[in-house]
Amino acid sequence: MKNSRFARTAGWLAVPCLVAAGLLAWYVTREPVSRLESPPITVADIDPALVARGEYVARLSDCVACHSVPGGAPFAGGLEMATPLGAIHATNITPDPETGIGRYSLPDFDRAVRHGVAPGSRRLYPAMPYPSYAKLSDDDVRALYAFFMKGVAPVNQANIPSAIPWPLNLRWPIALWNGVFVDAKPYAANTSQDEVWNRGAYLVQGAGHCGSCHTPRGLAFNEKALDESGTPFLAGALLDGWYAPSLRDDHNTGLGRWSEPEIVQFLKTGRNRHAVVYGSMTEAFNNSTQFMTDDDLTAIARYLKSLPGDRQRDGAPWQYQERSAAVGSQTPGAHTYATRCASCHGLDGKGQPEWMPPLAGATSALAKESASAINITLNGSQRVVAAGVPDAYRMPAFREQLSDQQIADVLTFMRSHWGNQGTAVEAQAVGKLRDHTDPASSSPIILQMR
Ligand code: HEC
Ligand code: HEC
Ligand code: HEC
Repeated sequence: MKNSRFARTAGWLAVPCLVAAGLLAWYVTREPVSRLESPPITVADIDPALVARGEYVARLSDCVACHSVPGGAPFAGGLEMATPLGAIHATNITPDPETGIGRYSLPDFDRAVRHGVAPGSRRLYPAMPYPSYAKLSDDDVRALYAFFMKGVAPVNQANIPSAIPWPLNLRWPIALWNGVFVDAKPYAANTSQDEVWNRGAYLVQGAGHCGSCHTPRGLAFNEKALDESGTPFLAGALLDGWYAPSLRDDHNTGLGRWSEPEIVQFLKTGRNRHAVVYGSMTEAFNNSTQFMTDDDLTAIARYLKSLPGDRQRDGAPWQYQERSAAVGSQTPGAHTYATRCASCHGLDGKGQPEWMPPLAGATSALAKESASAINITLNGSQRVVAAGVPDAYRMPAFREQLSDQQIADVLTFMRSHWGNQGTAVEAQAVGKLRDHTDPASSSPIILQMR
């Protein structure tokens, strides 16, 4: 009697379970709907003006930085990217029909770029920044497609398979991740703001994918906010051994002390009186931001300046305090600073703007995270190439000359002088980054698109 009631209950329970399993299976295998099904585009008919527009959108989006390797053919793929699950490689996105995306229709391309699903329901890892590209407008996706089909030379080069082991390499769970973390709708204008602000928001959130480095990530490696409605948006984040600082109006660790024209200058020329581009920002500068029009850079600066800072996170406002480093000083790090660093950054920490950045008031000297200061001191910086000219002055690598303790001491010194209030740097933290990073290559990493 009891048993049969159990069987009946179990039977009834099985129905919703099966329905749920069916829905799940449908959900994870369904192709997202592209808004660009019609009118269809015939590649032969693509207008050269649309190809040129698409080339600019590709610049805004920095597709080349991941989909090419120095010395390789443009967009033929190959760059290795670390993910929490293991290494993957960016793929060949030249119009080669065998190894590239030559057989993609416009809707196929749209589904890959804005929804992260390649043909055959193959879910892409979000190392491809589709959570940001989801904001791209229909027109910009059409233009991008035109550029990749007609402006890029086809290259036959097989993709490198991912090194992620089974079962972590199963791709269907990415569909669930997308369901939770990706808002797959194009950018919608905020009507309470003007056109310049909206253009800036569109560029920063969408094509520029600035948040993929500058926004902190959650436990599932998701960016904690994808637009200004969340306060973690662009609040500063650690990625690949670099700290990409806050781009909000934080006085110390963000852009609070930068004017709008100074932000434009940094993104256009790679330097201003506050800072010089280095670390992973170099690839965004070399291959993307310097090619943006002045109007677009102004829009970006306008938008960034509208994002409020957080006084609690940021600390008491930095103010310069006169203090000179001295050769032979007994303060740990002071002697190293005076003999190894002061020739460029000055005994007074003020540098020689706009060529040698100040360390007094530098983000890397004020932020809690010391990764960028350690990394650049160990490894130096990649070459910045502005308007085709590699810069003459660069931060040298001290990996061979200084021990972990010496680097920790000199950085603790620079983070606690001239009004700087960064935390002390431990030798252990230097050792850890020493093991996991390489000296910056001296060849300029500027990648051709054609
Ligand atoms: C931050 C690095 C990064 C950037 C920037 C980037 N991609 Fe990707 N992309 C990747 C990676 C990595 C993959 C492979 C993902 C995988 O295997 O799941 C990929 C995959 C793709 C694919 C799928 C190709 C296939 O069939 O395997 C397309 C299409 C694509 N990207 C187009 C673009 C376009 C267009 C842009 C610029 C608008 C762009 N990507 C920018 C990293 C990037
Ligand atoms: C690949 C990662 C990456 C991307 C993408 C990226 N950044 Fe950065 N950015 C960094 C890192 C790391 C730094 C710190 C090093 C430096 O100051 O150059 C930085 C620094 C900056 C600074 C200087 C901040 C300071 O206080 O010194 C600005 C401004 C900036 N980024 C703006 C942008 C904008 C705007 C975008 C999007 C168009 C963007 N970044 C995209 C990694 C990135
Ligand atoms: C030959 C000149 C030179 C010397 C010597 C030098 N630097 Fe630098 N440093 C630079 C330049 C130039 C940059 C900007 C990045 C670039 O273009 O290479 C920089 C950037 C930095 C930054 C990042 C600043 C920011 O905006 O966040 C730190 C930190 C730093 N240097 C620390 C040091 C320390 C510590 C020493 C001594 C151990 C040192 N530097 C010695 C030229 C130098």
